[in-house]
Amino acid sequence: MRTDTPQTIYRKDYAPPAYLVETVEMGFDLDPDLTRVATRLTLSRNPESDGKSVVLYGDGVQLVQLRMNGRELTRRGYALGNGVLEIFNAPEQVTLEIETAIHPALNTSLMGLYVSNGNFFTQCEAEGFRKITFFPDRPDVMAKYKVMLRADKKKYPVLLSNGNLIEQGDLGDGRHYALWEDPFKKPSYLFALVAGSLVCQEETCTLKSGREVLLQVWVEEGNLDKTQHAMDSLKHSIRWDEERYGLELDLDRFMIVAVGDFNMGAMENKGLNIFNTKYVLANPRIATDADYAGIESVVAHEYFHNWTGNRVTCRDWFQLSLKEGLTVFRDQEFSADMIGTDSGRAVKRIEDVRVLRQAQFPEDAGPMAHPVRPDSYVEINNFYTVTVYEKGAEVVRMYQTLLGRDGFRKGMDLYFERHDGHAVTCDDFRLAMADANGRDLSQFELWYSQAGTPRVKVETAYDAGQEAFEITLSQSCAPTPGQAEKKPFHIPVAVGLLDSQGLDMPLFLDGSGSAEAFTTAVLELTESSQTFRFKHVKEKPVPSVLRNFSAPVHLDIDYTEAELAFLMAHDSDAFNRWEAGQRLAMRRMLALVKTVREGGQADAGAAGPLHDAFRATLTDSRLDPAFQEFALTLPSETVLAEQLDVVDPHAIHAVRQAMRRSLAQALRGEWQIAYQANRTPGEYSPDAESAGKRGLKNLALAYLVELDDDAAHRLAQTQYDNANNMTDRIGALAALANSSAPGREQALARFYEDFEQEALVVDKWFSLQAMSRKTDVAAVRELMRHPAFTLKNPNRARSLIFSFCNGNPSQFHAADGSGYEFWAEQVIALNAINPQVAARLARTLDRWRKYEPALQQKMKAALQKVAATRSLSKDVLEVVTKSLA
Ligand code: PHE
Ligand code: ZN
Repeated sequence: MRTDTPQTIYRKDYAPPAYLVETVEMGFDLDPDLTRVATRLTLSRNPESDGKSVVLYGDGVQLVQLRMNGRELTRRGYALGNGVLEIFNAPEQVTLEIETAIHPALNTSLMGLYVSNGNFFTQCEAEGFRKITFFPDRPDVMAKYKVMLRADKKKYPVLLSNGNLIEQGDLGDGRHYALWEDPFKKPSYLFALVAGSLVCQEETCTLKSGREVLLQVWVEEGNLDKTQHAMDSLKHSIRWDEERYGLELDLDRFMIVAVGDFNMGAMENKGLNIFNTKYVLANPRIATDADYAGIESVVAHEYFHNWTGNRVTCRDWFQLSLKEGLTVFRDQEFSADMIGTDSGRAVKRIEDVRVLRQAQFPEDAGPMAHPVRPDSYVEINNFYTVTVYEKGAEVVRMYQTLLGRDGFRKGMDLYFERHDGHAVTCDDFRLAMADANGRDLSQFELWYSQAGTPRVKVETAYDAGQEAFEITLSQSCAPTPGQAEKKPFHIPVAVGLLDSQGLDMPLFLDGSGSAEAFTTAVLELTESSQTFRFKHVKEKPVPSVLRNFSAPVHLDIDYTEAELAFLMAHDSDAFNRWEAGQRLAMRRMLALVKTVREGGQADAGAAGPLHDAFRATLTDSRLDPAFQEFALTLPSETVLAEQLDVVDPHAIHAVRQAMRRSLAQALRGEWQIAYQANRTPGEYSPDAESAGKRGLKNLALAYLVELDDDAAHRLAQTQYDNANNMTDRIGALAALANSSAPGREQALARFYEDFEQEALVVDKWFSLQAMSRKTDVAAVRELMRHPAFTLKNPNRARSLIFSFCNGNPSQFHAADGSGYEFWAEQVIALNAINPQVAARLARTLDRWRKYEPALQQKMKAALQKVAATRSLSKDVLEVVTKSLA
């Protein structure tokens, strides 16, 4: 909790540490009420610094004893205040012995050492290690760790830490011990320990070099029937990193541990990854196709961090995207490769771009906008954002687009050659890419330093006489907090030209020097405006621009509805086929929003061309069902809101609903056929093909249920009753929950009874109701009184509170402001329990200025109420202060 005004930390103030740590030895006497931690550090002066003080950080830890080079330090030898312990004029070589006392059972922040369901876990990224002991807790201090764990043997039979198990045994008094040693230097944020009553699934795996490694997935007793998918995902990840990047697992043992209380998805601690149960536990009964895919990608993400994050780590937290953007890019590519097909890769790309548009574009346009490499922060935990992660991944992807796959690999190889074992910066990564390919990527740096989503405007001209087609690209970028003016970015724009048959034309780019024809050209836009000229263009083409979403930008391009329908039907680039459909729908919906705002009706009946285009997609049997599902899903209310200067969430909701009903009505027969054609009888398998079918089938069901008639209710009810997997079950339940089906209440009650014992499924039950159109603020409050609800568990809090505030816009934005009052109450309540989770919820209202005036007023009042709360964490304070600024 805050006691004084929080400080802003600036990137420009970076200075290397005065002392480096060589070795860390720790002894833990684990007890939930009072754990004692004895730490011995050897440090030496850093030649890169002229500082003479040893600076250690501690947060909420009690200092029991401090000795330097064998002698106890008295209060005259050091200063302690504000979380900083400073030892002045220390000698060249220092051995520190530090004893601290901490209270894991009282730790509800889930940072540092805490207890979850009776077991001990740690979370140290970004600055959690200082909640365990005093330490130079910054990522550029890398050291080797030896860790002794001691605990009651009955209660805590399993004792784990990073690296290799060296020794274990009994202590005689009902307690036992385990000694772990990590052979690799690491920053303190990668430290981890787990102690408790857990069981594991284990397998051995032979690496490319022939070395054999032990793989373990640790869970609570009773969950061993839910670990196979995580284990398989781990093995696939190991194989993929060897094949694609030549990177091998460097440890003899790799462990994954699942924990029910966790702030984020998972954590890449060296050799001891700790995961939110949501990203480990799966079987057909409890997990959906999306859960299976989520587990595969998060297991891969954390595994890939072993090289991109752990072996090469960040110099300071401003460089967070160095590891996160890169590792997200790697896990995206991995997931795409796991599907294997071209169309599967495209669907994965569409999914990733949807996340970017749904969450990152709004962030980049709001008061919390920040560059991929931020310049300042108050609380680093607030910067684990979609910008650092997902936009960061787009930035990494652009290197690959510019340099080609092989060029990118060369850059990666050089990056590891230069920086293995070191803490480095985003500039180091960019330079490795540039040097390995003999390219100047200095302008590319602006992607790291400038916030905001660039806008690229496209104008074209065809000269039949010259057989020349010109594309003029112009870029701009709106101001963001602290950045009024932007310089032009280096933007790769992938372009293709379609002939009147819808086929790709061979491209001859003027000035490219290459005589070889190709069908997609990567135009490099580096100035405010540039014209590119294609030769030998026999007829006026329809351009397909920004193929595969080659850059994270807004694209302004004027297409007629006929051209969009043409692209939707023919573009060889599946991403742009999807994009054309989205544009077509968006255009209609925006026109309708305007009508509604002017007092008219949300009459979607006249959306003829859209109906035809959707019908063509739905009935094209050559298409991959997963692609069809995405192509037939309308842009979300959030994405629609981004297109408007003044947001009226009720008008948006009304229009999208009207559009869904009209599509349900107009294509009723086609939906019914698609429903039947995409059933997946027999044993459940989460593979992409079956998952795609289920996705399309459930979309068909959702559309049909928009009609809210008996036939649709029966279809949903039958699916619910016969489901042999969670995807089908929850799809049916969601359909029922949004309808007035007679079986609605009964199905919800039965679902709860059937899955009461499965926390992750109970989360789904809360979340589904929180997002149902039938659930208003009063109903959410009622759900909070359910015995299974608690704010203390982040997954549970997210399932109800976040789902409602972020996933149910029409109810959340109730005209009387009751949703905002509810939001403020929950932010304040969470602030006292878990500042990180509270600050995430606080983000919900950060775009308040975009809403219509009546709502704005009420949002502002709610924000002010939170801002005026006593003992606000700096996490929440930073968010609300920046929102109100
Ligand atoms: N580093 C983790 C990841 O992206 C995320 C994380 C951050 C987890 C902070 C916990 C705390 O894989
Ligand atoms: Zn990560």
